[in-house]
Amino acid sequence: MSVSPAFARDIDGKAIAAQVLSEVKDEVGALARQQIHPALAVLLIGDDAASQVYVRNKLLRAEEVGIHSLEYRLPANTTQAHVLTLIAQLNADPAVNGILVQLPLPSQIQEHIVIQAIDPIKDVDGFHRQNVGGLVQGATVLTPCTPSGCMRLLYDTCGDLSGLHAVVIGRSNIVGKPMATLLLQANCSVSVVHSRSVDAAALCRMADIVVVAVGRPQMIDASWLKAGAVVIDVGINRIETQTGSRLVGDVDYVSARTVASAITPVPGGVGPMTIAYLLKNTVIATRLQLEESRTRAPEPQFA
Ligand code: GUN
Repeated sequence: MSVSPAFARDIDGKAIAAQVLSEVKDEVGALARQQIHPALAVLLIGDDAASQVYVRNKLLRAEEVGIHSLEYRLPANTTQAHVLTLIAQLNADPAVNGILVQLPLPSQIQEHIVIQAIDPIKDVDGFHRQNVGGLVQGATVLTPCTPSGCMRLLYDTCGDLSGLHAVVIGRSNIVGKPMATLLLQANCSVSVVHSRSVDAAALCRMADIVVVAVGRPQMIDASWLKAGAVVIDVGINRIETQTGSRLVGDVDYVSARTVASAITPVPGGVGPMTIAYLLKNTVIATRLQLEESRTRAPEPQFA
C-alpha cells in the first residue's frame, strides 16, 4: 500500500495583506477626520522591468487605502546630485510623509548615500541607519516592509514563535539581516545561512521556520527541509517556460510542499504583504511627524 504524502497548506498572503490594508484604510480615515492626509513619494530611477511592476502595484494599493501618492520617474542617466536635491525637497515638504526610493539604482548612484539622505522619520522602507540601529536595539519605529510582512505571516501561521529554530537563507540589508533581527526579538533561535555557509542544507534541515531570500529560482527543495517546517519564500523570479514565462520563488514549491507543513505560494505569498506594510509604515510615519510637530519647541521670535 502506498501512502500519499501530506501536502503543506498555503499561507494566503493575499488574504492576510487584505486584512492589514483594511486596518490601514481605517487609520487613514481617522487621520482624514483630523484634516491629515498621508502622502507617499515614490522615486523610480531607470527602467528596471521588475521595479516598474512593483512601483505600479505600490501606487495602486496606496490609492485604494486613501494614501496620496507622488510618483517621480527619472531616467536611467539621472545624476546622484539630482536625486539628492529631490530628496532634500521632499524631506522639507510637510505635505510629504513617506519617501521611498525603489531599488536597485543605476550604477552611477550610490545606494547608501541616497538612503542616508532620507529623513529617518520619512524613511518608510526602514533602511536608514537610524532606523536599522533602532531595530537592532528593539526601539524601532519604521521597520523594513518585507520582513515585517513575513513576521505577520508567521504569527498568523504559528502563533507564538518563542523557542522555535528559524533559519534565514540570505543576508541582504533589505530582507535577510532585518528578518533575522525580528525573529530574534520574537524569541526564536536564529541561524543565518549564506553563500559561505558550510553544508547550508544540513543547517536548514534543523529549522522549524525557514525564510528564503536569495534571488535564485527554485533553489530550495524538499531535501533542505525538516518534516513540518513552515516555509516563507521571499523570492520573485521570472523564468522562461515552453509556453512563455512565469513567476517562481526561491523555493521549489511543488517539491517543498511534500515535506513542509505550511508554505507561501509565489505569487500571492510575501509580495502583497510587502506593499501592505509599506502603507502601514506611511501611516506610522505620518503619526510620528504629527507628534513631532506638536512637541517641537516654538520658533524663537525676534522683534
Ligand atoms: N527593491 C526590492 N525590494 C524593495 C523594497 O522593499 N524597497 C525598495 N525601496 N526597493 C526594493
